[in-house]
Amino acid sequence: PIPLLIDTDPGVDDALALLLAFNDPRHRVEALTIAAGNVGLRHTVANALKLVEVCRADVPVYPGCAGPLLHPSRDAAYVHGRDGFGDVGYVPAAGEAGREHAALAILRLSHLHAGRLLLVALGPLTNLALALKLDPTLPQRIARLVVMGGAVTAHGNITPAAEFNVAFDPEAARIVFEGFPRFDLADWEAVLAHGFPHAEAETWLRADSPRARFYEAISRQTRLWSADRRGDHWHSADALAMAWALQPEDALETVERPVAVELAGTHTRGATVVDWQRQDGGADNARILMRYDRPRFHDLIRAALAAGGGP
Ligand code: BDR
Ligand code: CA
Repeated sequence: PIPLLIDTDPGVDDALALLLAFNDPRHRVEALTIAAGNVGLRHTVANALKLVEVCRADVPVYPGCAGPLLHPSRDAAYVHGRDGFGDVGYVPAAGEAGREHAALAILRLSHLHAGRLLLVALGPLTNLALALKLDPTLPQRIARLVVMGGAVTAHGNITPAAEFNVAFDPEAARIVFEGFPRFDLADWEAVLAHGFPHAEAETWLRADSPRARFYEAISRQTRLWSADRRGDHWHSADALAMAWALQPEDALETVERPVAVELAGTHTRGATVVDWQRQDGGADNARILMRYDRPRFHDLIRAALAAGGGP
């Protein structure tokens, strides 16, 4: 199987993405490196450990940076719950986190699986930026980097122009976008174009499996929030990025362009600026996801929720 390393800030949609990854026979999850973002690091680490336990996945969890590189940022507890997993009061996992720092684990695994590693970043890019600063040759050993982040036509979800993962730590995102000559970007507009009906998702969540039961519980609060705010479709940003990472053959349309991160700006800090008209003559660094095979995406989610259960 292809070695897969996931940097994540779980987070309800991170959890769904992890369920997809744990259920994929073509990939082996080597480790989870943990960022702060949706909620503080203490919770994102505890949530990752709990999900690993629920899925009986034998995957180490390495805590990373407790906050952005430079400026403090607001979390997304209003979407994911104060604990990041819907405040259901789950019993903490028995397992413990690894002692190695996430940035060092990223570098170590990049050497161990040089040229083969699939790296998927589902949270703010702080750990990855730090790893890059420690060792700028990192991209040479990564087979593919998939990032969930950005809002390529400036339909932000956290400010008018910016998406959460990039806006939480814009300096880190800039380091990564400039340090990797090539990466895949699943942005917020792609997520908006690939929602699924709540009614359908509820049938998936009724699967007779510990994974579905746990996910149904931790996602309840955010599903209500999303139904209230965004209507009859539910959006799972990190699950879409993960689907594309695991099954790239199901991407129906992608576009390559130079993408930069705005650090200043009165209204636009954290915006991803895409050179759609190729004004600046910069190199294309990002392949942007425009359209993904919807039925295949839904099949992946349904199967991941049902996995590990039933007769
Ligand atoms: C991203 O921000 C977080 O709230 C989600 O987990 C996802 O990674 C969407 O903008
Ligand atoms: Ca996330």
